[in-house]
Amino acid sequence: MANPILSSMHIAALILSFLLFFILGMSSAQLSKNFYETSCPEALSIIKLSVHSTVQTEPRMGASLLRLHFFDCFINGCDGSILLDDTANFTGEKSADPIRGSIRGYDVIDNIKAQLENSCPDVVSCADILTVVARDSVVELGGPTWKVLLGRRDSTTASLSDANMDIPGPASNLSQLISAFSKKGFSVKEMVALAGAHTIGKARCTNFRNRIYNDTNINAPFARSMQAICPPSGGDNNLASLDSSSTSFDNVYFNNLLSQKGLMHSDQELFNGGFTDSLVKTYSSNPSTFASDFANAMAKMDNLSPLTGSNGQIRKNCRKIN
Ligand code: HEM
Ligand SMILES: *[C@@H]1O[C@H](CO)[C@@H](O)[C@H](O)[C@H]1NC(C)=O
Ligand SMILES: *[C@@H]1O[C@H](CO)[C@@H](O)[C@H](O)[C@H]1NC(C)=O
Ligand SMILES: *[C@@H]1O[C@H](CO)[C@@H](O)[C@H](O)[C@H]1NC(C)=O
Repeated sequence: MANPILSSMHIAALILSFLLFFILGMSSAQLSKNFYETSCPEALSIIKLSVHSTVQTEPRMGASLLRLHFFDCFINGCDGSILLDDTANFTGEKSADPIRGSIRGYDVIDNIKAQLENSCPDVVSCADILTVVARDSVVELGGPTWKVLLGRRDSTTASLSDANMDIPGPASNLSQLISAFSKKGFSVKEMVALAGAHTIGKARCTNFRNRIYNDTNINAPFARSMQAICPPSGGDNNLASLDSSSTSFDNVYFNNLLSQKGLMHSDQELFNGGFTDSLVKTYSSNPSTFASDFANAMAKMDNLSPLTGSNGQIRKNCRKIN
């Protein structure tokens, strides 16, 4: 006959071992702050130094590298998939419309990866490199910092169709922007904060032509000065700054929106009589609120569906699977 005390102890032991198993299982598959502390202690300083010299040489590259990470995370999680080149029997994400001729910085990542392979082969993932590089780029241009958790692994696949679907376009209206970000778990407020990334970097004429010739909610002298850069036809790749201080990570983007000087249609949608107007005003008058909301939203973006544990791989070359 079963001893009732023993059997409740058995049950307790069973529950405890399940819990332990669960906790251990989780921890081996989670990101952590000190992931490379023993396997590659110099990883973070190698990345930081490279970003420093890259951005000193070409400030815009800091913006391009931030955008590269944003795309990586929005297209099936932060898994380095955006870095994969097409091959004879594999089509990656690089030929997707929002990416081709637009995304920059692949060479910078290759260079950093080569240095890391030299110091600690097969240890640091391309997905982690992108994550740290984005944070360091923002800091280098004068923006806020945030803690980056590490331990992402690299995908062995990429999706052209998800790239075309999940990246919001410059003609988007407010509800499209809200839904694109809500699909990834971001609130309206987080979306507006993240859009503040357009405080740095540039856009091509093809992405703002319609706005500067056809939109009515645009400052007239501003439209004229942009029309001088971007003709009604031709000059698709001519560049204009996304805000009036495009090499400094500040809140000027939001100030510009208040005076109807958003460069792209999607930018001005954030301040166009809708319910995000108040957020734009807040960020315009409180740079430190913008800085901390942006940092928190980036830390959240960094953790979108990473591959961990034994999923994926550590690519040797960010452009191809091992
Ligand atoms: C809110 C929705 C967004 C839309 C519709 C959008 C769209 C665009 C477009 C069309 C460009 C210009 C690309 C070109 O002309 O080649 C651009 C540039 C840029 N975007 Fe966004 N973006 C959005 C959100 C974000 C987010 C969340 C980030 C990062 C956190 C970001 C970072 C950047 C940066 C830094 C640039 C300049 C890149 C460079 O100079 O190379 N964007 N964006
Ligand atoms: C294409 O696929 C075949 C069979 O899966 C593989 O052996 C080959 O290496 C692949 N070629 C390239 C260029 O990836
Ligand atoms: C936003 O754009 C979508 C797609 O073009 C359209 O269906 C929707 O009605 C627009 N929403 C607003 C509020 O204009
Ligand atoms: C302005 O809008 C009209 C109508 O949608 C379009 O046909 C025209 O190409 C647009 N002009 C520019 C310069 O984008």
